[in-house]
Amino acid sequence: MSSSHTRVGVKPVIPSKSSARDNGELILGYTQAGYSNVLVSITNLQYREKSKRAFQLSKNSSSLKVPSPSAQDVNIYSGPHVESTIGLIASWIELEHENDSIAEFSRQVLMHELEYAKFVGLKHLIIAPPKDLLRLSQFSNIIQDILQFTSESLITISVSLPICEELQENSIDPLGTWDMWNSIRTSVDYNDRLKLSLALAKGSIPLEVVYRWYSEPVSCLLMSSSVFLINNKGYPVLSKSNQRILEIFKGKSPLLLLHGLEKAPQTVEHSGYMQYLKYITVKNHQTLSKIDEFGMSHNDVLLPPLQPLHQNLDNFTYSVFECDTVKYDLYGKAIFSALNDLSQLTKINIAIAGAGKGGLVDCVFNIITKLEMQTKCVVTAIEKNSSAVISLEQRNIMNWGSSIQIIHTDMRSWAPKESYNIIISELLGSFGCNELSPECLKPLEQYLDREHGIFIPQEYTSHLIPVSSPKLYAKLQSLGNPDAFHKQYVCKLHEYSPCCHKANDLWTFSHPLKTDLTKRSITTFRIHAKTTIHGLAGYFSARLYKDIIISTKPDEHTQDLISWFPFYFPLEMPLYVTDDTELEVSMIRGHSGGRTWYSWSLECFMYLIVPSEDREELQVRIRTNGTKIHNHKGRAYAIEESIIS
Ligand SMILES: C[S@@+](CC[C@H](N)C(=O)[O-])C[C@H]1O[C@@H](n2cnc3c(N)ncnc32)[C@H](O)[C@@H]1O
Repeated sequence: MSSSHTRVGVKPVIPSKSSARDNGELILGYTQAGYSNVLVSITNLQYREKSKRAFQLSKNSSSLKVPSPSAQDVNIYSGPHVESTIGLIASWIELEHENDSIAEFSRQVLMHELEYAKFVGLKHLIIAPPKDLLRLSQFSNIIQDILQFTSESLITISVSLPICEELQENSIDPLGTWDMWNSIRTSVDYNDRLKLSLALAKGSIPLEVVYRWYSEPVSCLLMSSSVFLINNKGYPVLSKSNQRILEIFKGKSPLLLLHGLEKAPQTVEHSGYMQYLKYITVKNHQTLSKIDEFGMSHNDVLLPPLQPLHQNLDNFTYSVFECDTVKYDLYGKAIFSALNDLSQLTKINIAIAGAGKGGLVDCVFNIITKLEMQTKCVVTAIEKNSSAVISLEQRNIMNWGSSIQIIHTDMRSWAPKESYNIIISELLGSFGCNELSPECLKPLEQYLDREHGIFIPQEYTSHLIPVSSPKLYAKLQSLGNPDAFHKQYVCKLHEYSPCCHKANDLWTFSHPLKTDLTKRSITTFRIHAKTTIHGLAGYFSARLYKDIIISTKPDEHTQDLISWFPFYFPLEMPLYVTDDTELEVSMIRGHSGGRTWYSWSLECFMYLIVPSEDREELQVRIRTNGTKIHNHKGRAYAIEESIIS
C-alpha cells in the first residue's frame, strides 16, 4: 500500500479578506501539497454579520427574511477545486433552539447554504452536532429535511461528534454520544447519505467505544492539532490510544481531517502532521492479516449461501476451495492420525463422501503414499456432480495412478458391499450444518465399520453472537422487500460490532448421529453496554479427529483459514437494548416438505430488585423487548434436500 491511498484532509484558516476566487487557489495549493480534501465554511464572517443584522431588524417587524449570500459572503466558487472541497455548514446557527425565531433564523441560513452548496456542486457537507440535547428530535427532523433537500444531488451529510463525552469522574457514559447518533439515524431511517465525522480526543477512549464507532458510517476522523503530542525530536505524534484508533479504523480508510493547525506550536511544521498520518496509516496497512486481505471486495456483501447438495458447484468455486491450504493441511493431519490408529488392520477402506474435484482425495493419496500403505488402503470417492466427476476421473488417470474408485451417485442412496473404516467428508457450511452434512452422512453410518470406524469430521457445532451492523440493516432495508430480513446470508462481516465478548454454542452434530436432525436451542447472552442489535452472526467449529479442530468462531478462529465467511441472520426491526440486558436467542433447525430451514427470534430481559415483605429484596425478571419470529417454518428461505438433475 502506498501513501497515495491514505487520505489526509485539512481545515485551513481562511484569511478574512480572502475572496472565494483566492480560496480556490488556496484549496488547489493544499491538494498539490498532498492533502486529498480541504474543509471550508460555505459562508464567511461577513455573511454571519449580515444575517444577524437581518435577525435584529426582524424583531421590529412581523416577518423574518434572512438574505441569501452575495458574492462577497461565500468562501467557495465553482471550479476544479470543488471536487476536493468539503463544505462546513455554519456552526453559529442553532437549528433546534427552543426560541422559535432563533430556530427559524437558523433554518433560513441553513437553506441558503444548502442551496449554494448544491449550486457549486459540493458532494460532502459537515454539520455541527445539536447544542440542546433535550431537543434532539427537532435536530433529527432538520437532518431529515436536509437529506430530502439534497437527495437529487446525492450530497453526503456528515454530523460531527466527539468520539466520547468528556470522561469526568462520576458522570461517565462512554456511549452517550453514540446513543445520540443512534437516535438521529434511527429517526432518518438509516439514510445511507447520513454519515459521521468523529473528533478524536486527547485522553484515552475505552476500546468498546472505538469498536462501536467502527460499525458506524464514519466518513472522517477529525484531528485537532491539540490531540497530537510533540516528541523529543520536535515532530507531532499521536498518543498510543489514538494510534490504536487509527489501527482499528484501517479497514474503513476514513478521511483523516486535520484542523486547528494555526494553534499548533510554532516550532512544528504543519506538513509534519500530514507526513506523520501518512506514515502511520501505511504502517497499519502492512499489518493486514491474510483473512483481511482475502476477498476485500467481499466486505459486507450479503451473498446467498451455497447449496452444494441441491445445485452443482462450478469449476471456479471448487478452485477457490482448493486455495485454502490450511483446510487441507488440517484434514491431512486428521487423516494421518486416523490411519496411524488403524495401522494394525490388514485392509483399510476409505470413502471420501462429496469428493468435488478431488482436493481431499489428493490429501488421502499423498498420505497413503507417504505412509507406504498403498497395498492395504482402498479409496473410494463419491460425488453427485457429474462435471466434478469428470475432473475426478481425469485426475485419477493423471495423478493417482488410477488407484481411486470413483462413484457417481448421491451418497444418500449409495449401497456399498463392504463396510468402511474411514469416511471423510467436507459438507460444512458457514453455520456448520447448513449444507445438510447431517442429512447426507446419516445414511452412510450403516456402512461404517462398527469396531474400527472413524468419521472425519467427528462432530461440528454451530455458534452464534448478536451483532450491531447498521450497514447491513440499511442494505437490506433498501431492497424494499421485508422477506430479505427472513433469509440467511454468507457475509464477510466488516463494519460491525459484536454485542458480547464470546459466541455461544447452539448445537452439535456428532457422527454416528446420536440426536435428531431437528434442533431447538435457546441461548442466553449478557449484554453489558447498550446497543442496537441488527442481526446474528453464525460460525462453526468442527472436530476433524481427536484434537484436530477447524473453527471460524471469532475467539478461536483457525489462523489463515479462508474457506468460510460468517453466516448472517438479520432482524427485520433493529432491537435497541439497554445496559445489562439479558438477551435470549431462540433458534430452530426444522424440516418440512424436503426442505431444511432455520428460524430465529430474540427476547430481552432486565432484572429489577424490589423490596419484599418476607425477604429483604427480590429479583424480578422483566421482559423489555422482543422481535418477531423470522423465517417461520422456512417461509422465506430453506435449503433444498433434493438434487437438481
Ligand atoms: C463443499 S464441497 C467439498 C469438495 C471437496 N471434498 C473438497 O474439500 O475440496 C462438497 C461436495 O460434496 C458434494 N455433495 C454434496 N452432497 C452430496 C451428496 N448427497 N452426494 C454426493 N455428493 C454430494 C458436492 O457436489 C460438492 O462437490
